[in-house]
Amino acid sequence: MRDQIIDILKHEALWAGDFLVLPEGSQPTVEKTPACAMHLPTHSVEADADSPEQILDTIREEIGDCKRCPLFNTRANIVFGEGNPNAIIMFVGEAPGAVEDRTGKPFVGPAGRLFTDIVEKGMGLKRSDVYIANILKCRPPGNRDPLPDEIAECIGFLKEQILAIRPEVIIALGRIAAQNLLEIKTPISRLRGNLKEFMGIKVMPTYHPSYLLQNPSKKRDVWEDIKKVLKYLGLPIPQPQR
Ligand code: URA
Repeated sequence: MRDQIIDILKHEALWAGDFLVLPEGSQPTVEKTPACAMHLPTHSVEADADSPEQILDTIREEIGDCKRCPLFNTRANIVFGEGNPNAIIMFVGEAPGAVEDRTGKPFVGPAGRLFTDIVEKGMGLKRSDVYIANILKCRPPGNRDPLPDEIAECIGFLKEQILAIRPEVIIALGRIAAQNLLEIKTPISRLRGNLKEFMGIKVMPTYHPSYLLQNPSKKRDVWEDIKKVLKYLGLPIPQPQR
């Protein structure tokens, strides 16, 4: 227990060192640009269209007790995604890990704690302001890389979620997310930091929080990428607190 607390404190200190903490109550209000200003498919702006929340519920129903790929044999829970259905920022990760598999929630394990710090301490937003999903909805055994067949079966649901939410920016966390959304093989070290486009939505590839846990010096690169996103959205860039 004591070791766990020391680990958490070390981790907080590291992250706060680079991302620094916003004063209480200074979180920016996040307002969504009207869909009609976003050049997205016309079905999404029909007057009588279902709300993003209703569409997400329908997608979840469509997934059901999914057995489309063999990962159903080893998963405990499907990790559909969570967050604000009207988010202007959506994060896409790779696949659930052990804690996510157990809880059914994305980014709640060790990498998830760092992820939440990026959003809350770094960006000055609340985790519940953004939407969080993964390329795969089920955990690959031992956290191995997702297989092409697994991605092929699953990514369509993610694309439906993206169309339902219509964020202004997707932040793709890590190689698997960035390469599969953008359908390119460029290494993440070259992709990161450059705004790309997918289905008419801006995509910012950056490093995955798990990679940052192994390579803390790369947090600075992620902060640069995040600042570009905040600037693009016209959101305030949190200042270091001295
Ligand atoms: N890593 C991911 O890519 N996604 C999660 O939800 C958790 C860890």
